[in-house]
Amino acid sequence: MEQRSFGGTDLRVSPIGLGCWGISGDWGPVNRDEAVGTLQRAFELGVNFFDTADMYGKGRSEELIREALGPHRAEIIIASKGGFNFYEGERHLDFRPEYLEFALGESLRRLGTEYLDLYQLHNPRPADLTDEVFALLDRLRAQGKIRHYGVSLNSRLEGADRVRERCPASVQVIYNLLDQRAAAEVLPWARSRGVAAIARVPLASGLLTGKYRRDPLFSDGDQRRKHGPEWLARGVEGVDPLRFLARPGRSLAQAALGLVLTHPAVTVTIPGARSAAQVEANVAALSAVPLDREELERVWR
Ligand SMILES: NC(=O)c1ccc[n+]([C@@H]2O[C@H](COP(=O)([O-])OP(=O)(O)OC[C@H]3O[C@@H](n4cnc5c(N)ncnc54)[C@H](OP(=O)(O)O)[C@@H]3O)[C@@H](O)[C@H]2O)c1
Repeated sequence: MEQRSFGGTDLRVSPIGLGCWGISGDWGPVNRDEAVGTLQRAFELGVNFFDTADMYGKGRSEELIREALGPHRAEIIIASKGGFNFYEGERHLDFRPEYLEFALGESLRRLGTEYLDLYQLHNPRPADLTDEVFALLDRLRAQGKIRHYGVSLNSRLEGADRVRERCPASVQVIYNLLDQRAAAEVLPWARSRGVAAIARVPLASGLLTGKYRRDPLFSDGDQRRKHGPEWLARGVEGVDPLRFLARPGRSLAQAALGLVLTHPAVTVTIPGARSAAQVEANVAALSAVPLDREELERVWR
């Protein structure tokens, strides 16, 4: 798979990465061997960018990356996140520098590595993006514990102004055919400043595969249940007029991934996958039948 520059950094990344939340157990029970197989299949196919977070499965996602890809540490880009404190009481946002430093140490331990390629602040509120936090990130970088740092904005894109001021190496946003707010508020800025943009949830949590129709039933442990019925109804309704994008040689999901990558600011997109077969289908988006002009006009209209 081609690799591209990750913003202004020395990192080279595959345009399709792997989102490692779905294999963590937060989306329902996970078979360990299947999760390891999913990660290894991604690597075999040329995926080198693995997005995770300490809180995914309370560390399980990071452990699985070590178990599956430990021997390939130097060949992969590990992008983890911190800021959700799940160690003390109810899980809560916590960006105190001393907490973040502790959390990074725990991530490194679980991942079995001495450094992260990218450390991202996870869903900070504007008030969390303090000078002290950025001073800590600069110090961790100087110590070699992280190579670069970025910010993963929450779904409301809160803190975007502060991110623009601080200009970290990367910014992560939701960007997909059903939610294009980032295209107005963040992506043009990232492109103009050479900041890497990570487009997450490119399949709208699976809805843009087209396999979910009215009232899909997610299992008890699946975090998608938390979004509530309105989110689901709106999502399923939003997908219906896009079904024409599926045709021989290209599934709806592949069209959705291809479209995310047509945005000139997007450096890498990180579809989640829960099986090796899903990884294969997602990577194949790069060689699927491209969208013609009429299709593009219908989508972006
Ligand atoms: N705040 C943050 O920083 C934040 C928040 C959310 C996500 N993320 C990151 O973004 C990544 C991606 O987001 P996401 O996983 O929530 O959503 P997504 O990538 O839009 O959807 C992933 C889900 O779609 C289904 N799927 C994927 N490929 C498929 C295929 N080829 N065919 C059929 N179904 C397929 C799978 O679930 P089913 O098969 O069960 O439907 C999979 O778990 C996460 O893993 C995480 O790394 C970050």
